[in-house]
Amino acid sequence: MTQPQTDTRALRNALGRFATGIAIVTAIDPDGHPVGLTVNSFSAVSLQPALVLWCLDNGSHNLEAFRKASHHAINILAADQQDLSNRFATWPTDRFAGLPWQPGVGGAPVFPGCCASFQVANESALAGGDHTIFVGRVEQFAEAPALAPLLFHGGQYRTLADA
Ligand SMILES: Cc1cc2nc3c(=O)[nH]c(=O)nc-3n(C[C@H](O)[C@H](O)[C@H](O)COP(=O)(O)O)c2cc1C
Repeated sequence: MTQPQTDTRALRNALGRFATGIAIVTAIDPDGHPVGLTVNSFSAVSLQPALVLWCLDNGSHNLEAFRKASHHAINILAADQQDLSNRFATWPTDRFAGLPWQPGVGGAPVFPGCCASFQVANESALAGGDHTIFVGRVEQFAEAPALAPLLFHGGQYRTLADA
């Protein structure tokens, strides 16, 4: 059924028909603390130069930290990392407490056990309505092709049927 463009709930539902992976984007804030959140707005942009993007809600606690950080890391979650996704989408305070991670380029936290990770330089932060579009230049990346991904579709976590 066709919906008016102003019906935000319906628009969100329709957008949710686009199946995505899930990532946790991380950085180090100006005080040296790790910051991060769960996103599914990650996308490849360009191969040469190697560019990727993701979108951050302008209401995020972490907007200034990501604007100021020289680098951030994009951790693509595996099927068994749903708890990590929930933690970085909901915990109000220290999301990193008790978690293992390694500092990547610019110190941005890289988690073990992910399907892939991209360590990127903060190339630009573009206005995108109520979100900011972060474009990153990939400086390092890694992949674990044997790991099945965590997916998101219709507002729910999913896994690949043929993984
Ligand atoms: C599957 C999933 C995907 C999400 N994708 C995004 C996204 O692309 N951009 C965004 O800003 N928030 C996204 N969120 C919401 C944030 O993870 C959530 O609002 C988080 O609490 C924001 O934290 P912050 O305000 O500390 O940055 C997503 C949440 C989930 C569960």
